[in-house]
Amino acid sequence: MRVPHPALTGGVAGGAEAPRSYGQALADALLTRGAIPGGAVRVLEIGAGLGYLARDVIARLREAGREVRYTLVELSPALAAAQRARLAGAGVSWVVGDVLAVALDGPFDVILANEMAGDLPARQLTRADVGLTADGGTTDRDRLRTVSPTAADLGIAIDDAPEPFYLQTGAIEMVTRIAGWLAPGGTAVITEFGAVNAWPRLSTQLDHPELSTHFGILLQAARAAGLTAGVEFVIDLLGFDRTLQGLATTRSHFRALRALADSAGIDLAKIGYTPELLGEAFGDKLDVAQVGELRWEKIEDRLMGLVPHEFKALICTRP
Ligand SMILES: C[S@@+](CC[C@H](N)C(=O)[O-])C[C@H]1O[C@@H](n2cnc3c(N)ncnc32)[C@H](O)[C@@H]1O
Repeated sequence: MRVPHPALTGGVAGGAEAPRSYGQALADALLTRGAIPGGAVRVLEIGAGLGYLARDVIARLREAGREVRYTLVELSPALAAAQRARLAGAGVSWVVGDVLAVALDGPFDVILANEMAGDLPARQLTRADVGLTADGGTTDRDRLRTVSPTAADLGIAIDDAPEPFYLQTGAIEMVTRIAGWLAPGGTAVITEFGAVNAWPRLSTQLDHPELSTHFGILLQAARAAGLTAGVEFVIDLLGFDRTLQGLATTRSHFRALRALADSAGIDLAKIGYTPELLGEAFGDKLDVAQVGELRWEKIEDRLMGLVPHEFKALICTRP
């Protein structure tokens, strides 16, 4: 949804308002909630991919009359180079390194970590590793400390862990670092796919295996670190129009569709297609109605290879 998207019209069914990109919709949500102070705003984005979110958040906040100081922490030098190219002249500064290791000049009024927490290290453990028995027991904090000193210090409750289980040590650590970087009154938004009370499972929603996120654990970490925190559906946060249909693809299906488009002289970008967007991409070179095997589903349930309603946002504020 890096392009202005018909599902992001501000929650108005039928799309009565102008389509917005994901970044524009996220900035609007923060503005609407009063999470953006007037005047100068210090924004930190962690793990910025190709830089589209940064581009649109910066532009939207400037349109809203804010002076934006934007810092990006990015692990991958190659992605940092792509971000620099996309954001040239936007007044962004970079810290290239691991969010779990870098030192930053905070504080920040807004911190964004969009779909990157699942990339952070996690440990696969047995219940016995943390002093639990197969059907009960209480976590042994000293044993937990050998795996994650932060989880142990914060008193994170994991007695209900399945056998075996993944502990998202990196994401827990990042939440405490974010707590340290947030200015009083500041807001952090951490999005990923996962659920409040489901332990991480390996997923292939993306083109590489990745763990889903246990938001209940991150919620505990945020609160224990002194933040006010809650978890919301990303589609609600952004005011997703749930009445639309989205293209449901598998990786091989999309490759085939792309090859078909290529044979008609169309470079088919990987975006979340609605019938309207696919029609625009095809132009007069291909007819959507003539392409076989296109499966359309309720957009909140399926969009390309993703399940939009599985994406959640941990929203934290520093009192
Ligand atoms: C799945 S991409 C998401 C990109 C972007 N936020 C978006 O929503 O399009 C994950 C991003 O986080 C970065 N990343 C992963 N681990 C990181 C770490 N430990 N520190 C900083 N950045 C990290 C990756 O290099 C990549 O830019």
